[in-house]
Amino acid sequence: MIHNKNVVLGVTGGIAVYKSVELLRLLVKEGANVRVMMTQNAKWFVGPMTFEALSRQPVCSDLFDGKSDASIRHIDWAEQADVVVVAPATANMLGKLAHGIADDALSTLMMAVTCPVILCPSMNTHMYESPATQRNLERLKEDGHFIVTPDSGDLACGTSGPGRLPEPADIMDRIFHFLSPKDLAGKNVLVTAGPTQEFIDPVRFISNPSSGKMGYAIARAAEYRGANVTLVSGPSHLVPPKNVEVINVQTAVEMSSVVFEKMASAHIIIKSAAVSDYRPVVTAAHKIKKEKDTMVVEMEKNPDILFELGQRKKDQILVGFAAETQELQKNATSKLERKNLDMIVGNLVGDPNSGFGTDTNKVTFFFRDGAHEVLEEMEKDAVAHALLDRVLNRI
Ligand code: PMT
Repeated sequence: MIHNKNVVLGVTGGIAVYKSVELLRLLVKEGANVRVMMTQNAKWFVGPMTFEALSRQPVCSDLFDGKSDASIRHIDWAEQADVVVVAPATANMLGKLAHGIADDALSTLMMAVTCPVILCPSMNTHMYESPATQRNLERLKEDGHFIVTPDSGDLACGTSGPGRLPEPADIMDRIFHFLSPKDLAGKNVLVTAGPTQEFIDPVRFISNPSSGKMGYAIARAAEYRGANVTLVSGPSHLVPPKNVEVINVQTAVEMSSVVFEKMASAHIIIKSAAVSDYRPVVTAAHKIKKEKDTMVVEMEKNPDILFELGQRKKDQILVGFAAETQELQKNATSKLERKNLDMIVGNLVGDPNSGFGTDTNKVTFFFRDGAHEVLEEMEKDAVAHALLDRVLNRI
């Protein structure tokens, strides 16, 4: 979303300026062309050299710094910007922006900006909660600016409460959210992710190496695109996507009861979880001792959640996944038909860059009408967006 885009990073004077350095690094890592504009006060906290080195561009903090293009730089930068992010945004800067005051380089640039503006307030809790700041934030929202809600916690001034600049990775997440088209607005999307764990005794279980990355990427992408997302997740170490209802489960039986409870309100159901097909017939009440040389665990079938969804579905889009080590097309299309799906994502597993635990994936989409589409290897986030694009086409 920001690859090769012009981003202006506005930095105003607060203790959180050190986080803007990391934010700049993340923006550059995403391929953005970032220009930094600092207020004079911001320079007390971190020097412009740091921002210049990371952005590889001159930093602007003064419209009248004697350089030949200085007096028109704010207009050029404003016109060329695809997005402006102000982090941290002090109470003073929010007040100026809300009232159209342009008395320094950054506030002057902001008057000329026509692209999306993302403001990240950061200040002492009382300053943040003051009627003036809240009034200014409301006005800025009405003006069409996006506001990243500050985190709550201990602040540098010794108080505790809302006002902390979110971590740079979280600001990036919200930048992607704000910049995404809201083509799934009003849609309820139900996603399953991760493995299930089927217990043999209280300390041992049968499972698989699913990390949850694919399902979490789908939930995150759907949230970016405006959907109301419920994520039913097997055990995973991943940080849950923001603004998503996450329901944690452990076993296939638990997953099935949550999914069936939630299915009625879902417009789109995407089942990327790696559900254990079988569970032990008996779960021992206590740890099994290693008394015998061999051990047999009798297993019984788990509910096939996807099959059952296919039977019950009404006017809903149902997408399954098929993790296969061979004969991808044959196995995936047979599941597509048997389970009454609209689409299935054939996923080659057992490849170092695809399947369980990887950041990238190699998938083929198979559709109900017999069409299929082979995707090149890509990040799971990109697979998630491609999948949602195809679902939207079908809707
Ligand atoms: O989590 P990651 O590390 O990112 O890995 C991603 C993934 C490889 C787990 C994912 O991309 C994937 O392929 N998920 C499906 C894994 C799987 O269980 O495939 P399957 O072919 O066994 O199952 C077919 C479909 O039926 C799946 O949609 C599955 O969710 C569903 N199913 C399976 C068994 C069962 N009892 N109930 C089900 O609903």
